[in-house]
Order: sequence, then structure tokens, then C-alpha cells
Amino acid sequence: MQPKIKIAASILAANPVRLEDEIRKVETAGADLIHIDVMDGHFVPNITMGPFIVEGIRRIAQVPLDIHLMIEHPERYVDAFAGAAGDGDLITFHIETTKKPKEIISLIKNAGLKASVSLNPDTPTELVEDLLEMVDMVLVMSVNPGFAGQKFISKVLPKIARLRSIAPDEMDIEVDGGITTETITQAVQQGANVIVAASSIFKADDPCAAIKTLKQIAERVDNKVKA
Ligand code: DX5
Ligand code: ZN
Repeated sequence: MQPKIKIAASILAANPVRLEDEIRKVETAGADLIHIDVMDGHFVPNITMGPFIVEGIRRIAQVPLDIHLMIEHPERYVDAFAGAAGDGDLITFHIETTKKPKEIISLIKNAGLKASVSLNPDTPTELVEDLLEMVDMVLVMSVNPGFAGQKFISKVLPKIARLRSIAPDEMDIEVDGGITTETITQAVQQGANVIVAASSIFKADDPCAAIKTLKQIAERVDNKVKA
């Protein structure tokens, strides 16, 4: 049985000069996590936020932070991000960036945070299957990482189903990229329970209503799956 539905609001599509207002708004609307996309211009063709921003967000956020590292050599930066974040927050690294994922998971956990591993749309689940007992979450990318506002790649759906079928009961499966009121249904049907959304929340006319709608749809589908 999959764990409960959580909505992770990705601030990649928020107004960067009004971040505090944006975060308070989505928390009030029921966001369960604040998703922070960290990009280095090497692993992905874009550069975004570092530990300094995470530290500022940690001071104001009331829900856990979901730190998505899209960077090469993640092991070099775990301490900096863990120091900026706090207990109960979560760090995700990409399996494509390392040959020693177990060591990175231990680094994250020893720093007191939850650990998660992510795979790109073209990366097979086999690469993370022996890690499922060690991680709190697996993040399945449903777009090629780098930018908000891309189209959902539906060929990743069987990977979500495969991971849900072999994951420990309490393990979260997160889906990230191109989530809308339509694609959220497919992702939850296959077993995703943590749903990232940037554009469909922050670019909506009413971000609060958008979060509530996404959550309602996901919970309805989840209840059907569990029935
Ligand atoms: C993409 C990021 C995503 C992004 C999602 O590389 O990892 O978290 O913010 O944006 P939307 O929801 O607009 O696809
Ligand atoms: Zn992300």
C-alpha cells in the first residue's frame, strides 16, 4: 500500500523576489513540502539555487524542505546543504552522478536528513533497485531535468509501477515534471504518492486553488487504488 499523498510545491516557478510570500501562500493552501531545485550548469543546462538560499528558506518555511540536487559530485555538497537545512528535511541526488550511491545515502543520513535517489526519464529502475531498503524516497523524473514548464513524458509510468511493486511499504515515490490535473492521475494510479508541481501551481491564476485541486484529484485516485 502506498504512503499518503503529499504535494511538493516547486519554487522554480515562483516569483524569486517574493519568495517568502510565495512560500507562505502555498503552505497555507496545503503544500506538504517545499521542493527546491538545485542546478549546477553541468549535470543540467541551467543554474539555480545553492545552500545560501536553502538556509534562508529554512528560516521561514514551516513544512519540510525537499532539496532536489541536480548537480555533479553531490557528495561534495551534502554537508553544505545539510547544514543549511535541518532534521526532517530531505536531500535527493541523481543516480546518474555517482558510482557510490550507498556512500552518498550514508552521508545524508549521518547528517540527520532523509535520503532520496532520483532517476532521469531514460535511466532504468535497475540502477536503484538495490537501494530501496536504504532510502526514504525515490524520485522518478517525468521530464528531462533543467527547466520548469516541460511536457510530462508518459513512458516513465511503468517505472513508477515497477518501483511501487518492489518498494518497502513506507517508501515514498515522488514524480517530478509536467504535472497537471491530467498527468497527476496517471502518476498516482501507477503508485506515485509525492507529487512535485511548479508551473501548475505558481503560474496558475490562483495558486492556492491549484494546490487544493491537485491534492483532491490525487487523493481521490489514491483512494480508488487502495480500495
Ligand atoms: C525540473 C525540476 C522540476 C520542475 C518542475 O528539472 O526538477 O522540479 O520545477 O516544473 P513543472 O512542474 O513546471 O514541470
Ligand atoms: Zn525537481
